[in-house]
Formats: sequence, structure tokens, C-alpha cells
Amino acid sequence: RVENGFRVFDLRADSGVTDFGHGETRTAGYNGSYLGPTLRVRSGEKIRVRVRNDLDQDSTVHWHGAILPAAVDGGPHRPIRPGRTADMRWTVDQPAATLWYHPHPDGHTEEQVLRGLAGMFLIDDDDPRTAALPHEYGVDDLPVIVQDRRFGWDGQFGTRPDFSSDVGVLGDTLLVNGTIGPYREVRTSLVRLRLLNGSNGRQYDFGFAGDRGFHVISTDGGMLAAPVPRTGIRLAPGERADIVVPMRPGERLVLRSRSPAPDENILVRRFEGGMDSFDVLELRAAATLTPSTPLPAVLSDLPPPDTSKVAHERSFEFYQRTINDKNMDMHRVDLIATAGTREIWTVHSTHLMPHVFHLHGQRFRVLDVDGEPPPPELSGWKDTLNLPMDVRFRLLVTFAGNADENTPYMYHCHVLRHEDEGMMGQFLVV
Ligand code: C2O
Ligand code: CU
Ligand code: CU
Repeated sequence: RVENGFRVFDLRADSGVTDFGHGETRTAGYNGSYLGPTLRVRSGEKIRVRVRNDLDQDSTVHWHGAILPAAVDGGPHRPIRPGRTADMRWTVDQPAATLWYHPHPDGHTEEQVLRGLAGMFLIDDDDPRTAALPHEYGVDDLPVIVQDRRFGWDGQFGTRPDFSSDVGVLGDTLLVNGTIGPYREVRTSLVRLRLLNGSNGRQYDFGFAGDRGFHVISTDGGMLAAPVPRTGIRLAPGERADIVVPMRPGERLVLRSRSPAPDENILVRRFEGGMDSFDVLELRAAATLTPSTPLPAVLSDLPPPDTSKVAHERSFEFYQRTINDKNMDMHRVDLIATAGTREIWTVHSTHLMPHVFHLHGQRFRVLDVDGEPPPPELSGWKDTLNLPMDVRFRLLVTFAGNADENTPYMYHCHVLRHEDEGMMGQFLVV
């Protein structure tokens, strides 16, 4: 709906009950009992989102991956009290990308996301190359929100982690778009999956049964320069990738999350759930398939990262529940950046357990990984990045033009339990 030049969306967060096949599970959702609607907007469009909070605790809606002013970023500073409505407006100022939204209240993010509050936020643009990609929602362009859950004897979501888990609750059951064991009929020769790891702490190594090759076309913040051929892609909590897979007539093709290669650190992998394999989604191809437009050889004019005129270099060490030895303090601003500048950030984890770097309101490029050029699937725009222990990533952070000296943005670990436990810092862009 368009009102006074704004595309308007209404979201209402509320608790509800969902039957996943385990009886009545107490859940929460936006405009429904689990997850929320996919919001789809165009680059350049003015949007207005009204969010009513009918939960019995404070909430917010954070636009993960969106380039927007801090005042509408949905961070913990601007809670929406129970029964109140927030009104957020901004102009979509970024190219085509697969983003998502979720609550970000102080200390209760894991709990609210676990109950079901999350949704996809898709941006389209006018680039003819992205228009040539599969883009018919629900037909050849499918959202794939992957979340692990554990069901208790009473049918409720398990909320207490296993003693051996350092990343919060690891579920033994996958929900994909809120469904257990989903399949989808498809009838085109190419199918695009918008993979979102919407889990609280679990990582996935996605790939197809039979090692079917696919192309990665985009990562968190936008299109890659060219399609990257792969048979697997790993996503940490909060990360996204769009992939395009070729289908054969009449086949059933299963997307899986696989166990790691045997040379990885077994103890770490075990405690973070990396020993678990899952079937994620079955694609059932029609007997005859409509031929899709072949993937363009070039997807975007991704410029090489420009490291000239870097305003600052900073480094961030992730350890246990701290970033640079500090735990979150809502009254402390950790750094101040200048709108429209670039900085080089070195991020690295010295902790045995996995951490996931995420930055609000801006995008970054990976310059190097332990001094080597990044693999092609990390060469595009990112906002979330897995940090295995002792691997040093140098990032070129581009601060957008949204200056506000009063409202901070966040950077934090996207393992939601770690975030709630204060593995988070704040920055101002002025
Ligand atoms: Cu997806 Cu600060 O979060
Ligand atoms: Cu975010
Ligand atoms: Cu962490």
C-alpha cells in the first residue's frame, strides 16, 4: 500500500500458538503465530513500517543488513513498550539484497527470535542483470529461513542449552519457513534459494544430495561480481546467500546441511553442533520444466575494495563474552566514525568457540583472511561474518551517510545468546 509517497507496512508482534506436529507450541510472530511476512521493497523507495508490540515485554524490530539512520535501526535504545506502536520511515538506499528483520531488545533477543519473531526483507533494484535472475517469489525464487528447534515433552520449544553447548540452544529439528520436513514443487530449470541462517547459534554447511553444483549469486549485502560455482556453502547465524541450482525434470533434489570435513577440530565442532546433518528442503521438479533465462556472466559492477583514504584502522578481538575485553554497556559509546568515510577493521576471535561478527547500518568488504585474498563467496558485500578461532579478517567498512550524534548503532556477536550476554559494542556515526 502506498500512502503519501511512502510504501506502508504494518507489523504486529504477538504471541500465539503453532502446531508443528508436536501439539500446541507457544510461539510468537508478526501478523501471525510464527515468523512474519516477507517484505519486498525497491531500491530508492520511501518506506514506512508501523510496528505494534502486543507481546508482554519490550521489543524492537531491527532491519538486519539495511543501510538506514540509527533512529530506525531498531536497536535496544528504542524499545517498543507492550501495547505501543513504533513508526519507522526511511528511504531504501542500497542495491538488491536479501535482508531480514528480527527483534533486538536489550537482553531478550535470543528468547524472542527463538519464539518465532523474524522475517525476510527483500530489496529489488532496476539493474537489468538482477532482473534476469529468477525472481518470481514462491515460484522460482524461494525464501529458505532455516532455524533449529528442540521440542520438549510438553511440545514447547526447549530454551535451556545442553551443558556442552556454548552457543545456546541447539535444536535437533529444523524448521524451514516454520515447517518441519518441507518440500516444494518447482517447474523451472533454474531455482533460486534465498538462504537465511535464522538460527540462534547453529551454523550450517549447505549442499545438495549427490553433490549437485550450484551458483552463489549474492551474499549478505548484495550481488557478487559473477556467479560463483560451488557444491557447498557455510552460513553462520545471521548470514545470507542466494544460490541458483539447476533442476532436472521429474527429480527430487534434497538440500542438506552436512557434517564437517573430518579435519576440522572435532571438539569445537561437536559443541557447536557441527557434527549434525539435516535434510533442509526437498525440491520436487515437474515432469517438464520451463527453461529459465541463463545466469548472466556478470551480476554487478562490484568495485575492487578501495583502501585509499582510509580514515581509521581499528581492531576487535572476540573472546568469551567480550569484544576488546569489554562487555556491553548501554551508556558507553565504543567508537565514533565519520559518515561517508571508510575504515579498516581487523576482527578476530581468540576463543575456541565460534563467534560471528555483525555490524549494524553499514556494509563491509573482506580485504583479506590471514593475509590471503578472501574466497570468492566472501568477496562481495557483507554485514555478518563467521570468526573461526585465530583467523584474522581485515575488513573495509564503508560508513553510510546517515549521521546522528545521539543514537548509536551496534556491532556484536550474532550468536544471539552471546549478544544477550553483552558481546556487543556501540558506535556513533557523526
Ligand atoms: Cu541481526 Cu544486531 O542483529
Ligand atoms: Cu543487524
Ligand atoms: Cu559469540
